[in-house]
Amino acid sequence: MAILKIARMGHPVLRRPAQPITDPAAPEITRLIEDMIETLRDAGGLGLAAPQVHVPLRLVIFHVPGDRAGPGESALSLTILMNPLIEPLGPEQNSDWEGCLSVPGLRGQVPRFDRIRYLGLDGEGKAVDREASGLHARVVQHECDHLDGILYPRRMTDLGLLTFESEVKHFPRAANPPPEADEGAA
Ligand code: NI
Repeated sequence: MAILKIARMGHPVLRRPAQPITDPAAPEITRLIEDMIETLRDAGGLGLAAPQVHVPLRLVIFHVPGDRAGPGESALSLTILMNPLIEPLGPEQNSDWEGCLSVPGLRGQVPRFDRIRYLGLDGEGKAVDREASGLHARVVQHECDHLDGILYPRRMTDLGLLTFESEVKHFPRAANPPPEADEGAA
């Protein structure tokens, strides 16, 4: 296992669409998943997409720790998802703070669909078919955007809500304060 270097905003690998994984059981995919898990643990984020470690393949990993799940939401153990598809369940959206390991030090308020269904393959190549809401839905949408070359600032509707994380305290949103440092980054 190895901790991989994380690409930062501006690197071309973060701007182009990633390719589908054709053989989920290939040894290099297994190794990539292990390395991404180690890299995410080291960086302390909620999720990581393969393009963020300079690999242009459709693979994301994510989790929602219990202390980050909102009221009525459950924690989500680490999930591996290959070749994902997302389907919004209704038009409703909400805005909340996001960070990104490829955009270190910043936070932005990003609108995302409230509820989604997502499909794909897990780390063993088995089908995943889940519904998600809350932070779980937000993280999945953020990670899957990476596979289409989209970083969260491009989803923002008000760039006045893009801020250094140390300045988030000046924004009036006490109900759901963002975590310190990069713990909430994805
Ligand atoms: Ni990200």
